Amino acid sequence: MTTLTPPQPELIDLHPVAADMLRLVRHGLQQEPRQLPAWFLYDTEGSRLFDQICQQPEYSLTRNEIELLEHSAADIATALGEGVIVEFGAGSARKVGPLLKAIQPSAYIALDISAEHLCQATTALQMRHPNVPMLGVCCDHSDLDDLPKHPLLQGQRRIGFFPGSSLGNFTRPEAVALLQRFRRLLDGGPLLLGLDQPKSRQRLEAAYDDAAGVSAAFARNLLRRLNTELGATFNPERFRYEARWQAAEHRVQMALVSKEPQSVTIAGECWRFAAEEPLVTEYSVKYTPVMARSLAAEAGWCWRERWHDPADDLSLHWLEAAD
Ligand SMILES: C[S@@+](CC[C@H](N)C(=O)[O-])C[C@H]1O[C@@H](n2cnc3c(N)ncnc32)[C@H](O)[C@@H]1O
Repeated sequence: MTTLTPPQPELIDLHPVAADMLRLVRHGLQQEPRQLPAWFLYDTEGSRLFDQICQQPEYSLTRNEIELLEHSAADIATALGEGVIVEFGAGSARKVGPLLKAIQPSAYIALDISAEHLCQATTALQMRHPNVPMLGVCCDHSDLDDLPKHPLLQGQRRIGFFPGSSLGNFTRPEAVALLQRFRRLLDGGPLLLGLDQPKSRQRLEAAYDDAAGVSAAFARNLLRRLNTELGATFNPERFRYEARWQAAEHRVQMALVSKEPQSVTIAGECWRFAAEEPLVTEYSVKYTPVMARSLAAEAGWCWRERWHDPADDLSLHWLEAAD
């Protein structure tokens, strides 16, 4: 007897090349405070560590969002309608399962910056949903306007899915630009946007600096990545990790702080860090429902409804393209 296994989903790899990464690093190190794009955190090891963060007791977002999706999938499916599901920043693609069952899309397209992890995620998902055609696209969200034409992206209504509060990594102008890019790609289709909401300083700082030290390892892995891929000379142990709630900006700032004065070489260029100087690795902006509606409107989306967990810690927002 032969067992039929579903085909391996195709992967289109458009990851920025080393020269582009180096340009972004140079630009980021000239900012005040120094900051790198959050996507630099996600190489294969970074994606593995992020999955471990999701299992930490302090980080409830993933568990709560999955429960909310399972509980509300039927209502969400009625709201979003039919088409191809396009998931942005899919990671391990663990959240889309309830939507695949409830919407029964004509295809599923997962976009993410972390190529190897994306390939593993879509392969595992394809095994669980053998009848849904799937495609992985490794790209930076900034490059969405230049995606190659692909049959699964042509001529079908598109439903966007952006869970995990990943929009929180972006400053307000960046978030507006990103939501506008999604609107162009979705071409009139709706967007389901998962956002985390403000909570106590204590809960938020613990969520992003867990007692087991996984968040710290996730941040330090970024420096190892720069060493491996760009020939940098960071010693990750000479930086301490911190996560601070910045109330005025409604965000947690995550940073690696230089423990002492030090110099680092990147592609032959020397960069000096003062003692206590931070290198911001990512932000996580928390959106009240009012902030979410205003952001959506600024980006040309019409806010329709939100679903939230029992404690109202996080929401899934249904947006439709404004005319
Ligand atoms: C916070 S994780 C969320 C993962 C998953 N969606 C979830 O909800 O658990 C962010 C994901 O987006 C991806 N990502 C981050 N920045 C990106 C960018 N600029 N372009 C494309 N993918 C990005 C990361 O690789 C990671 O898988």
